Parts: sequence; C-alpha cells; structure tokens
Amino acid sequence: MLCLFLAVSGIIYFGYFCSDQVCALTPQKSSWSDWTFKFPIQDNLGKPLSLHSTPFNLKTSNPGLSYDDVFNENFQFDMNGHDVIVFLHIQKTGGTSFGKHLVQDLDLQRPCTCHRRRKRCNCFRPNRNEIWLFSRYSTGWKCGLHADWTELTSCVDSEFDKNEGDTVKRRYFYITLLREPISRYLSELRHVQRGATWRNSRHWCGGREATLSELPPCYNGKSWNGVTLDDFMSCEHNLAHNRQTRMMADLSLVGCYNNSYMPPLERNRVMLASAKRNLAAMAFFALTEYQKVGQYVFEETFNLRFAVPFVQHNITLSSSTMSTLRPDQIEKVKELNALDIELYEFARTLMFKRFEKLRSRDAQFKERFAHLGKLPGRTEFNWDQVIEDTTMYTENEPSK
Ligand SMILES: *[C@@H]1O[C@H](CO)[C@@H](O)[C@H](O)[C@H]1NC(C)=O
Ligand SMILES: *[C@@H]1O[C@H](CO)[C@@H](O)[C@H](O)[C@H]1NC(C)=O
Repeated sequence: MLCLFLAVSGIIYFGYFCSDQVCALTPQKSSWSDWTFKFPIQDNLGKPLSLHSTPFNLKTSNPGLSYDDVFNENFQFDMNGHDVIVFLHIQKTGGTSFGKHLVQDLDLQRPCTCHRRRKRCNCFRPNRNEIWLFSRYSTGWKCGLHADWTELTSCVDSEFDKNEGDTVKRRYFYITLLREPISRYLSELRHVQRGATWRNSRHWCGGREATLSELPPCYNGKSWNGVTLDDFMSCEHNLAHNRQTRMMADLSLVGCYNNSYMPPLERNRVMLASAKRNLAAMAFFALTEYQKVGQYVFEETFNLRFAVPFVQHNITLSSSTMSTLRPDQIEKVKELNALDIELYEFARTLMFKRFEKLRSRDAQFKERFAHLGKLPGRTEFNWDQVIEDTTMYTENEPSK
C-alpha cells in the first residue's frame, strides 16, 4: 500500500508540479516557434542523450533516462554497465586525431586492442566482450560515412541490437568536436581540391537516403579535384556550407533534404535551434581550438584519463589561405557559414561554462591541468605507428 501510494503521488507530482524545463519528456514539436536563441536550460554535461521529438525514431525514445538525469546528481559513465560513447565525427574538425586518442590513449582497465592492418580496434568492456565505443576506429562507419546526428540517432541502437540483442537498454553518450567555421570550411575546400568527395555518405533521413534531385552533385566526373574557392562557394548544394549545423541538427524537423518543405529562412532558423539544442544535450563536446580544455572536460566528465596530452596544432595552413583571399571572398565565406558561426559562438560559451563548473568543484585543478596527459608509470607510445594518418582516400571507404 505504501509503495502504491508513493508511486501514485510521484506520478501526480511529476504530472502537475514538475516544470517543463526539468521534465521535458514530451515531444516539443510545436514549440519551435517559441524557441528563442537563448541557452537551453537543460545542459546535459556528462549525461546521456535522451532522444525525443522525432517521429522517425520513436523506437529509441526512452523517457526513463530523464528521470535518472534529474535525480542522479553523481552521474557516472559506467563502462561495466550498458553505457556507450558515440562519437559524431564532423569532417575537418580534428576528429581523426581525437578518434585515435579514444582508441589508443585512454588509460583503461582493459585497453582497446588494435589491428594495424584493419585500422580497427576492439574496445570491449572490462567484464565482457561488448563494445562501449561507437566510432570510426572501433566500429567503423556502421551508420554511414561521417554519419550525422540524424543518421546516428536513428541507427546506433539498432546496430547494437544486431550484435547484442534488443533486450538490453543501453545509454548513449554522444560526443563531438566543433571547429571555427571559416578555418573548417577552407580546410574542407583543400581536402576536396586534393580529391576527397565523401560520396559514400548516405544522408539518411526520414527512413531513406537523400535523392539525387535533393542533393545534386557539384561536379561532373569522379571528384572535384582542383576546384577554385569561387566555384566551391557558388555550388548551391555544397554540403560544406554550414556543415556543422546541418550535421548537428535533427533534420527530420525540416523535411530532411527536401528544400521545398519550408521556406529557407524558416529552415535555417529551425536547423540552427535544433543544432544548439542537440549540442547542449550532448554528454561532451570540445572545440578544436581549445585542446587542453577539451581534454580536461572529457576526462572529468567520463572519469577517464588520457595517457598523452592533446596537441594544439597551429592552424597555419588556413591562416595562410586566409591571407590570400580577397575581402569579398572572405565576406562570402562568412555569409555561407553564418549558421555555423552562430553555432560556434554558442558552443564556445557553453563549453567554457562547463569548464568553469568542473573546475570549481576540482580541488586539484591546478595540478591536474598542468599535467594533463601525464600518468605516473606509463610509457609513451606513438599512435601514428599503429594507425597511419589517413586523411584522404580512406575517408571514401565504404561504410562496411
Ligand atoms: C517536398 O516537400 C513538398 C512540400 O511539403 C512536397 O509537396 C513534396 O512532395 C516533397 N518532395 C519529396 C520528394 O518528398
Ligand atoms: C604555434 O605557434 C606559436 C607562435 O608562432 C608557437 O609559439 C607555438 O610553439 C606553436 N605551437 C605548435 C604546437 O606548433
């Protein structure tokens, strides 16, 4: 009787008194027009991504998680449980190095075992042969080459179900990197000039791939080798434009790749709002320009340690490219990436907020931050020897 009473009063409490910000379990489709570009109140620092509001992946929505989120203050990533890290890798954000750090440099009870020739590592839980990391170097591009938020959230769970059965309720911790949009764009340009196409990306959304008429190619033939900046910018369907916003947004909200689903301004607004919201809901994200902060936030969030310090590569290439650009070209690049620029500003503010929060509760902060990546009694090794850097053609490898 007592239990029954507690259960009923709990339901009544949450039904009537719990504020929407805390108990945002209900789909919020209609609220997009009210959504201002303020900070989302719900910041999922270190917590799993709860899936919601998309009709295409109802199967994966799991309202139980948010209940946990609200009450479990001392939330921890549990590698022995059913927790999974999912790495959303956006092109040219430094995700390759970070992906290698994840499989090679974490100080784990049971380190990933890597196979040099397959460029893959098995990252198993300490207590059983189950995978805890979904990323290029562990599982491969199982949900498509450089799968975006829309593709991953509709695919990751069923991929795990295939291997482990669908009786397990896993918790997913999405992580990603963002980069200053102008440098990222120019870096993608150079990559395309060298022959990269990512033509095997699926652009899966709403239960199907984008069609050729929705995403017409920008070039004839096999690649866009040697394209000039002006041509690169003038292709309307170039996916490099605002790539980070598109890859972070829930595209089912904007009719996927169907541009006539809503007016362009509305489409941009919804996409940006969705991208911000999904970013804030991620357990972890970092900015390429702030490697040390990213490393610290990751380590504190997941209670894991890297055995190497992250290196801050100077963005020399893109600054030299910058100086060769005409002012009107720079203006045009900014205009084409306006959403990404706003998303990046939002991300930077949010990242430093998270950083401050973690720092303020860390009594050993100074010591820790000064010695990031230095573990007592661990020999350094060079991951470049185990997995060669494959910046170019392997990006085009098929997903399986
Ligand atoms: C795109 O959206 C428009 C407007 O909703 C619709 O009429 C059209 O059929 C859609 N196109 C495709 C290919 O689904
Ligand atoms: C980046 O450039 C600055 C100034 O030129 C230099 O002091 C620093 O050592 C460089 N860092 C790396 C990692 O190359």
